[in-house]
Amino acid sequence: FEAPYPPYDPTDKSGFSYDTVIKRWPIILTSVIDHLHRVNHDLFVQAQRTSIKDDSQDAKIKEAQEIIGKVSALKYHMARDHALEPIAEDGEPLVDTYNSELAQLGKSAKNTWFTAPWLYAECYLYRLIRSYFAQTKHWNTYDPFLHQKQETFKKSGEAIYHLATTMHEFEVERDLIQSDPEKLGVLFREMCQMCLWGNATDLSLLTHMSHEDIQRLQSVGKDAQSARKEFILKDDSEALWNHIASLKNERVDFVLDNAGFELVTDLIFADFLVTYTPYVSKVIFHPKLIPWFVSDVMPPDFSSTITSLLDPSFFPPPPSGASTKPEEFKQNLESMVMRWQKYISDGTFELSVPSDTKIGEGNAKADFWTSPYPYWNMKERAPELWEGLIGSGLVIFKGDLNYRKLTGDIRWPASTAFATAIGPLAGSFPILSLRTNKADVVVGVDQDIADRLDKSGEKWRVNGKFALVSFLARR
Ligand code: F6P
Ligand code: MG
Repeated sequence: FEAPYPPYDPTDKSGFSYDTVIKRWPIILTSVIDHLHRVNHDLFVQAQRTSIKDDSQDAKIKEAQEIIGKVSALKYHMARDHALEPIAEDGEPLVDTYNSELAQLGKSAKNTWFTAPWLYAECYLYRLIRSYFAQTKHWNTYDPFLHQKQETFKKSGEAIYHLATTMHEFEVERDLIQSDPEKLGVLFREMCQMCLWGNATDLSLLTHMSHEDIQRLQSVGKDAQSARKEFILKDDSEALWNHIASLKNERVDFVLDNAGFELVTDLIFADFLVTYTPYVSKVIFHPKLIPWFVSDVMPPDFSSTITSLLDPSFFPPPPSGASTKPEEFKQNLESMVMRWQKYISDGTFELSVPSDTKIGEGNAKADFWTSPYPYWNMKERAPELWEGLIGSGLVIFKGDLNYRKLTGDIRWPASTAFATAIGPLAGSFPILSLRTNKADVVVGVDQDIADRLDKSGEKWRVNGKFALVSFLARR
């Protein structure tokens, strides 16, 4: 599929991709370097303390120094607009894919950090970092972003306690909700919005946000939601609900985005669908298999989310709400997560790959998500995955990067129909994209509105304040 417009790239200095090469990527690389320095220092101090010489510890320290060297060199080359280097043959999926695409870009002199298409370059960056770890013995399954994911997750306790309490209130009214289709529809829309705004906090964008900023973004109460409604520039939730209500005991797929708070909102939405509606009886979650865009979910994050939620010391103590005591908050959280555990053990909730899949292990059903390809290539590039998804009642693509891949990160006019922008993927299976805007590409929005916002100086395409709910049924 050939899109009629070029993709976004940093040659346009007013675009977010330029900002990204100049500022965001260097910050992310620096955080990896700093983190490894710290871990290595601790290893070194430990080694000093023990009198017995441990060669494998020495080798581990040396390997970390090598990774630090490679990441530092990468930062240097990036800042000087050097060519992207081919990814080393590290025995893991997609090396040839990335390298042959890179060779193609070289032919049109678009293979440097300030000229390569943004979507390709950013995917390449995370695969390249993975290759630095994959080639070591001691850091082979190490996730350099894990600490960041967990630290931020810890800060979302308050929002999560409130959400669990909402779910508890639903439990109390279960019969009423299930017997009143109108009420169910209203709650569905609220849950859908909650899951949408859960995407507002991804770590690759939070390079400049304070703790208060994060908490504000996580305010999920009813009032906060209706206040934010006007920021949803495309809202297909009515057509979406009509579609959901036409399903009979079907399966929903979540192409996951970020771990931590966002994943919890995905699980809550999934829980709502299977527990309260008669339309959905199974949910499959699709994770990434390598550390990806800092905060994306990998199988170990999926499992640890459940254990962290059940660990009474993980979050700071719950607040006491006007009518909810701290112990009640705890109980509400526990009973919600225990229900999820039951769903996981009886197969109602399922991960698309075995839950003990190791970082870098690869799987034909998941590798496509970490390739550089737009999703309109799915049928040719990942037939097994595609075959699986065509049986789904709804495939929910969470977040910004999934949206960029759905639309190819192309400079579509904002008024382009979503169905046009996703190319040949349209109609293959019912698609829902829940995305807060964190990159330039936008479709399905009135041209007048887009032009007005563009002129206003508001960074509406990238600041995470605006969102799109885009739905397309099977044709
Ligand atoms: O635009 C900033 C950015 O980091 C993009 O690189 C990427 O598309 C996105 O945010 C990641 O966000 P999300 O986690 O929502 O996919
Ligand atoms: Mg992400």
